[in-house]
Amino acid sequence: MSDATSIKSIMSENRKFPPPPAFAAAAHIKSLDEYEAQYRRSIEDPDGFWAEVASDFHFFRKWDRVLEWNLPDAKWFVGGQTNVSYNCLDLQIERGRGDHTAILWEGEPCDATGKPTEIRRLTYRQLLDEVCRFANVLRNLGVGKGDRVTLYMPMIPELAVAMLACARIGAPHSVIFGGFTAQAIADRVIDAQSKVVVTCDGGWRRGQIVPLKANVDEATKLTDLIKTVVVFKRCGNDVAMKSGRDVWWHDLMRDVSHECRAEPLDSEHMLYLLYTSGSTGKPKGIQHTTAGYMVFTAYSAKLIFDLRPDDVFWCSADIGWVTGHSYVVYGILQNGVTTVMYEGAPNHPAWDRFWRIIERHRVTKFYTAPTAIRAFMKQGRQFPDACNLSSLKLLGTVGEPINPEAWMWYHEVIGRKSCPIVDTWWQTETGGILITPLPGVTATKPGSATRPFFGVEAAIMSKDGTVQPANSGGYLAIRKPWPAMLRGVYGDRPRYERQYWSEIPGVYFTGDSARRDEDGYFWIMGRVDDVIKVAGHRLGTAEIESALVSHPRVAEAAVVGFPDELTGEAIAAFVTLRTGNAADDGVKGELMTHVAKQIGAIARPKQIRFTESLPKTRSGKIMRRLLRELATKGSVEGDTTTLEDFSVIARLREDEA
Ligand code: PRX
Repeated sequence: MSDATSIKSIMSENRKFPPPPAFAAAAHIKSLDEYEAQYRRSIEDPDGFWAEVASDFHFFRKWDRVLEWNLPDAKWFVGGQTNVSYNCLDLQIERGRGDHTAILWEGEPCDATGKPTEIRRLTYRQLLDEVCRFANVLRNLGVGKGDRVTLYMPMIPELAVAMLACARIGAPHSVIFGGFTAQAIADRVIDAQSKVVVTCDGGWRRGQIVPLKANVDEATKLTDLIKTVVVFKRCGNDVAMKSGRDVWWHDLMRDVSHECRAEPLDSEHMLYLLYTSGSTGKPKGIQHTTAGYMVFTAYSAKLIFDLRPDDVFWCSADIGWVTGHSYVVYGILQNGVTTVMYEGAPNHPAWDRFWRIIERHRVTKFYTAPTAIRAFMKQGRQFPDACNLSSLKLLGTVGEPINPEAWMWYHEVIGRKSCPIVDTWWQTETGGILITPLPGVTATKPGSATRPFFGVEAAIMSKDGTVQPANSGGYLAIRKPWPAMLRGVYGDRPRYERQYWSEIPGVYFTGDSARRDEDGYFWIMGRVDDVIKVAGHRLGTAEIESALVSHPRVAEAAVVGFPDELTGEAIAAFVTLRTGNAADDGVKGELMTHVAKQIGAIARPKQIRFTESLPKTRSGKIMRRLLRELATKGSVEGDTTTLEDFSVIARLREDEA
């Protein structure tokens, strides 16, 4: 990792957009003074602040203490008992929302006129019914409190049903993104020691069927842990059903009871595991627990998206990522509003699909990723311009820094200059949004996630923990625990301590570099480790490298990210072939396909360069920093004093010429 002092910010953006006055007048938080007073209280008296927030939720047993903090372990609402599924469903029904649409879903397939052939609406009451039945199905399969259940499904309501059913009985779920393939499933199943997998025959994506069940079948060849595979029939494609192991969802659901009491769970009971990439080794199972996550996701959603009972909220993220967990499912349903789910690709059958969805369902709040916005910009404004987007009241972004041009396009073309934009910074580990504008309060600056949310003490620090002056780049750190923070890396305590709590002693290390400007606004500059962000998704170098090395022609490989106009970053692979293999385009194509097959299309390298050896330190560590410079600028100017063999870089440069 480079030193903080070498992190230079090159961005200078001076435009400022105050919240639309009418929006501010009606917002939950209406003024900067109100934000500042509440923020101060949340930092000075976190116990009092969060106790007040949590009093609006259902607990079977009230907590004894709000926070127990023994660095690096936080426990929130200690001694309390609650259930997230209860708060998402039963409580909403008690509050009179039973007949309100909870999930509004659109499948991908369309008829010849471009109209979707499947739209489903599930009210809170119907969703509760489905969840209870599936919770009973899980129990009948022997799933008990604490057992990890793997969910590998497309974006259909049954994925949310399965998550809420797990939460209901206290079985932590591990959702695996449907774009991942067999090896990734097997690795995660093994790490989680999960015996039950819930999947579909397939899912629709760009008019094609993604063979989810076939991928699970492949995964079962890589581990014998999987005892039961529950299959929801989505596409009707042929699948092999292995007797004694594979069972149809609809068969299991037929005769089960519609009643299933929500299990009172300890506040710190594990709600889910979600695997994410770090810079080294295998994917990390990020652990989130019950009460803190529940309260924080619901409360942050309410204030940041300024949710109202008649909102139709659409977060376009896949539930396979944390954004979908927190702001398609848990944080949104707890507010009793309608959450929109869309199954397929943004360009199917045409590039207007998202705008048609907004028009058709009168979506009021829309939350998406900068990479998607850039893709839409590239296609041109004629697509959104042809749709009626007047229902939109607020826009949001998440996942990576948004470049000011994309922000302006979003503001003008999608928001018609009348919607506040919330650029929300957070991570799989943080569970919910930590740095963000409040839509009725914050004057936004394109490209900045602005200021910390309540209870979040963010700082820019150097490696030794010194807080940096305004406009100096440094490491983004969080100095106090917050309710939705991760509670650990599953089965790897040392990694949890090392990665998050040791880089800068005593504070949470985000792995991002950033600066804070003279107004106290945060500007995220990027990751400081080797993690690559492709289209807003975090990919670890190790996983991609091991996929490359698993190809029989490859001896060694290193991958790095380099800037890409559309996807933010793209992957460049430096590959050493085994002797006797020609370094030609045929092999390049073969390797690209191989990685896509091993991990998923998202991990396919955009560039492959062959090299006789990789630049390494004397202790044998690959110096990805140098490769990154090469891939980005075509030359290496940084410090090479720890390089073992200088000629490697010279040769790489020549290869490129
Ligand atoms: O680098 C930051 C970037 O995404 C990382 C977290 O990735 P992940 O765990 O996959 O979660 C993404 C969705 C919450 C962060 O460390 N990031 C996320 N949001 C922003 C961002 N960078 C700049 N601005 C954002 N709004």
